[in-house]
Amino acid sequence: MNIITVINAKGGCGKSTIAMNVASGLARHGHRVLLMDLDPQAQVTQWLAAGDGLTAEGTLVSALTRQQSLSEVIQPTGFENLSFVASADGLEDLGREISQTDGYPSMLTQLLAEEHIADRFDFIVIDSPNQISPIMENAIFPADVFIVPFESTKAVKSYASIYKLLVKLRPQEDFRMLHVLSNLSRLSGLRNRVLTLLAQDNITVARSEVRSCGWLAQVDENGGSIFHYRPLSKGSQDMAALVEEVRELFSNGPQAPAEPSSEATSTLDEVTAQAA
Ligand SMILES: Nc1ncnc2c1ncn2[C@@H]1O[C@H](COP(=O)(O)OP(=O)(O)OP(=O)(O)O)[C@@H](O)[C@H]1O
Ligand SMILES: [Mg+2]
Repeated sequence: MNIITVINAKGGCGKSTIAMNVASGLARHGHRVLLMDLDPQAQVTQWLAAGDGLTAEGTLVSALTRQQSLSEVIQPTGFENLSFVASADGLEDLGREISQTDGYPSMLTQLLAEEHIADRFDFIVIDSPNQISPIMENAIFPADVFIVPFESTKAVKSYASIYKLLVKLRPQEDFRMLHVLSNLSRLSGLRNRVLTLLAQDNITVARSEVRSCGWLAQVDENGGSIFHYRPLSKGSQDMAALVEEVRELFSNGPQAPAEPSSEATSTLDEVTAQAA
C-alpha cells in the first residue's frame, strides 16, 4: 500500500487543499484511494460534507478508541474510487489521552494492518494537523511519502521541527519527500525568499508547484475537488502535475532514503539554538 501524508507545522500552508485534490486526482486515474482526515479542525471532512463530521460516531475517533472498526468508519464519497475517513473535534482530546499509552504513534498503523486495509486500497492520503501532537505522530508513522507545502518563509522554518520529528519516529528514514511550493506565485518577492531559504537548507523542491489560483481558494465550498469544480483552471493543471509526480515516485521501485539526512540541518540548528 502507498501512503502519502501531507504535513507541515504551519497553519494555512495548503495541506488540506493538496490532500483533497491529490486524493481525488489519484482516484481519477482509477486508483482505489482512501482519504483520511487526521486534523481535528476537520477541514476536509467539512469540504466533503461527509455526515456532519463533528460527532465521534463514525469517525476516526471511534476507530482509534475501538468503538468501531476502521472498516466501519470508511465511507464512500461522491467521487468514484474515493473513500473517506472523517475527523471529529474529539480527536484533539483523544490525542492527549493516547499520549499516556505506550507505542501510541503507531496506533493508526496497527489499525491499518489489522484490518488489511492494504488489500482494499492502492493509496491512502492523510491530511495532518498543523500542530505537533500525538495525532500528527500517527499521521507520520505509516507514511511512505510526505508532501510538505511551503507558502511562506515561516513554513520553511516550521519544516525543521517536522523533519526532526520524522527522523525521531522513523530513524531508518525509509520515506521520501515532496517539497511543494504552494500558493506563492501571487508574490514573486516572497516566492524568491522561500526559494532562497530552501536552497540554503539543501531542500530540493518538487517539480510541481501549486500556483495561487482563486478557484482553488473557493473549491472547498463546492465539494473539494478542483478537477470537478474547475477542470480547466491552473489549480487543476497544477494538481494534475503533482498527482503525476506522486505516481512517478511510487512507480520508481522500492523505497530508498531519498534525502540526505543532513536535510534541513541548518534550519534545525537555528531552531535548536533558539530553543537553548
Ligand atoms: N494554491 C492556492 N491558491 C489559492 N488559495 C489557496 C491555495 N492553496 C490553498 N489556498 C487557500 O489557502 C487557505 C489555506 O489552505 P489549506 O486549508 O489547504 O491549508 P492547511 O495547511 O490545510 O491549513 P491548516 O493548517 O489550518 O489545516 C484556504 O483558504 C485555501 O483555500
Ligand atoms: Mg488543513
